[in-house]
Amino acid sequence: MRVFVDCDPGIDDALALAYLTARPNVEIVGIGAVFGNNSVDVTTDNALRLMELYGRSGVPVARGASRPLVQPPHLAELVHGANGLGDVETPAPASAPVEESAAELLVRLARSAPGEIDVLAVGPLTNLAVALSLEPELPKLVRRVVVMGGAVRAPGNVTPWAEANTSNDPEAAEVVFAAGFDLTLVALDITMKTVATGAWLDELKTVEGERAQTTSAFLDFYVGWYSNVFGVRQCAMHDPLAAAILLDPEIVTTSVDVPIRVELKGEHTRGLTIADMRPDAASHADDRPKITLVQEVDGEAFLKRMMDALR
Ligand code: BDR
Ligand code: CA
Repeated sequence: MRVFVDCDPGIDDALALAYLTARPNVEIVGIGAVFGNNSVDVTTDNALRLMELYGRSGVPVARGASRPLVQPPHLAELVHGANGLGDVETPAPASAPVEESAAELLVRLARSAPGEIDVLAVGPLTNLAVALSLEPELPKLVRRVVVMGGAVRAPGNVTPWAEANTSNDPEAAEVVFAAGFDLTLVALDITMKTVATGAWLDELKTVEGERAQTTSAFLDFYVGWYSNVFGVRQCAMHDPLAAAILLDPEIVTTSVDVPIRVELKGEHTRGLTIADMRPDAASHADDRPKITLVQEVDGEAFLKRMMDALR
């Protein structure tokens, strides 16, 4: 399996990369970094650091968008730390980013292997939107896209309505959702219910090795934020759940194929993801491509595989 990862690491982005890199049969063909949890300079540097930590130092990492298509950027240092990785020190990367931008790298890789590359997008969708402007046929060139983003029935996490990745670049998300990719959306609806519990976090602390221990240190910071959100010591597994759904689609137990749009104008609802969930949706004319919205997963199977990936 060949995967291009677009991300804004970010502590849960790091977990997604840990999940992918634990599988010898998964080739990460490239990583695009994007602003989001931190500036694009920091997220690019973190992607390089994480590839070294997780034993894939040869993977090309490309710097992507430094800001959304329209609005100013909004970063998340309170959730992910001033350095994007929970203020945990990791060795400075030995390698540098490639010369191409993230969008250019994705387009070149997709053209060179039509129908073979899957995309995991776990940051704002700006790089994918730019890639579509460079290559409108991209939805036919990549095999499948799994996106972490949006909140369909759940509350948002940046505003009462909007999730961070869609809220950070609503115009880009709207372009990507309309483009006709074979796209699976892993929204807050399911990621906020798929949590690493205190017991899971304690078990991780007993796993020996740099891979597990450094990731556990990242999580110490992240769980500090999420403990306030949930009122108990646990954290949401947003991005690694999307990685697992890409690699192990059988963990999805319920999903629905629906048109999904992004609100671009609302005074209070900008960035909101709107899915047509009417029971008779199919009888309403709508030429919008359908997106597979994940509704239920086998959370225990996922958490076990996540732990195995860190061993
Ligand atoms: C998403 O926003 C980011 O902060 C996380 O890395 C994740 O991709 C969750 O809303
Ligand atoms: Ca992310």
